[in-house]
This record gives sequence, C-alpha cells and structure tokens, in this order.
Amino acid sequence: MENKKRSFPIPDLSPRLKEVSRFVRDGACVADVGTDHAYLPIYLLKKGVARYAVATDVREGPLVHTRDNVEFYQVPEKVAIYRTDGLVGIEKYSPDDIMICGMGGELILRIVTECEYTRRSGVRLLLQPMSSFAELREGLGKSGYSIEKESLVRDGHMIYQVLVCVYTGEKSEFSPAELLLGPENIREKNKLFVEYASIYLRKLERKIDSKGNAGYDVSDDRKLAEEIRNILKTC
Ligand SMILES: C[S@@+](CC[C@H](N)C(=O)[O-])C[C@H]1O[C@@H](n2cnc3c(N)ncnc32)[C@H](O)[C@@H]1O
Repeated sequence: MENKKRSFPIPDLSPRLKEVSRFVRDGACVADVGTDHAYLPIYLLKKGVARYAVATDVREGPLVHTRDNVEFYQVPEKVAIYRTDGLVGIEKYSPDDIMICGMGGELILRIVTECEYTRRSGVRLLLQPMSSFAELREGLGKSGYSIEKESLVRDGHMIYQVLVCVYTGEKSEFSPAELLLGPENIREKNKLFVEYASIYLRKLERKIDSKGNAGYDVSDDRKLAEEIRNILKTC
C-alpha cells in the first residue's frame, strides 16, 4: 500500500523562486518573509545551501501549509516558523539573507525600512516585487539601501524582477527608467532585459496615445519613453 506520508527529496521550485535562490550565500541562515508554502527555504535547506531557515507569514492559513511542507520534506529541526507582520521579531534568529518575494513593492519597502535589523552589517536582502518597482527603488535609495545586483527571470508568460540590496547608509537617486527597469539591469543589458524594456516601451507608447488623445498631460511619460528608447539603442 502506498505510504501517504512518503516524503519527497526536494520541492520543485518555480523559475521565479529559483532565481531568488541563486543569490543566497552558502551556509547562510535565511529568513523567508511571507513564506506561504515555504518551498524556497525548504529547497535551500535540501540543496545544502542554507544551514537554517526562519519562515514567517502574517496569516495563519499560509503557516498551516508551511508546517505541513516542512514536515513533508523532513526538515522540521532546521526551520523556525512563526506568525508576524513583516520582520517583527526577526533579530532573535540573526538571519544573514532575508528573502521577501511575491509581494507588492510598497509592502516590501515598508517591511524592510521598518525593521532596524535590515540595516545590520552583513545582512543581505533578496527582494522579488510583483509591482510598484519605482516606489520600491526610490524608497530604498532614499533610506540608504544600495542595490548590489539585479536580475530578470522568465516564468510562464511573465518576466519578474529580483533585487539584491544591502544597507550602506548612502542615499541614492535614480532616473525614471532606472526606477522602473533597474539600474543594474540597465547596466547589464542582457537579452531578457531588451525584451522586458521593449514590452514596457510598447505599453507606455499606447498609454501616451490614449492619454494624449483624451487631453491629459503626457510630458513625463514622453520623457520616460525617450529615456527607454535611448537605452535600447545602446543594447
Ligand atoms: C503571494 S504570497 C507569496 C508567497 C511566496 N513568498 C512566493 O513568492 O511564492 C504572499 C504572502 O505574503 C504574506 N504576507 C502579506 N503581507 C505580509 C506581511 N505584512 N508580513 C508577512 N507576510 C505577509 C501573505 O499572507 C502570503 O502568504
């Protein structure tokens, strides 16, 4: 008879979360904020990349999945699970790499900036926003977090952004295109970036047409479109 409690060796991670996992340092204690299913920390533990994980969520429902999956993949002694808003209480576990994925950029910004621990030396933030990229980068730059690396990843029909940040205390400002597309993505200009920026530009041009026809001021949108066109010319 099939054993329903049979454990699988490793969760099948989506390309989006696999991309985030690439930036975790060997031997790190990781925190996964808004963990839901906890696939990312379980994957990192099973792969031998992370030594310990903290999985948190603001809601009890997702933490039920977290506990089930941690049992199923047989890593309960390596994962601390607790319910909290953002990073409240995280300092108790001293994580090295903090992952915040699958949330809006403004929520991620609030979670990061409200937590003093994120400003500790050696702490790295791996952020995967679903929206509000400009608000996230602007807020991080103003608050003294610097963007060390960025990447783009295709997952199904979508292209997702990943940011790797650390607190330096030095404030940064970005141009409108940098806020949206990422200064490091623009610097690297890889193939996926060209596709991503071109899709964004086409949408922006349609928006300029319809807003312009309706009599709205589109001067900022026009400037942004021009900046993106100039970036694409250098790719
Ligand atoms: C869309 S899921 C993303 C799950 C996983 N991180 C991923 O990327 O696949 C968002 C999760 O964040 C949790 N969440 C929302 N606001 C939160 C907050 N302020 N603090 C912690 N978790 C939060 C939700 O309960 C939900 O489980």
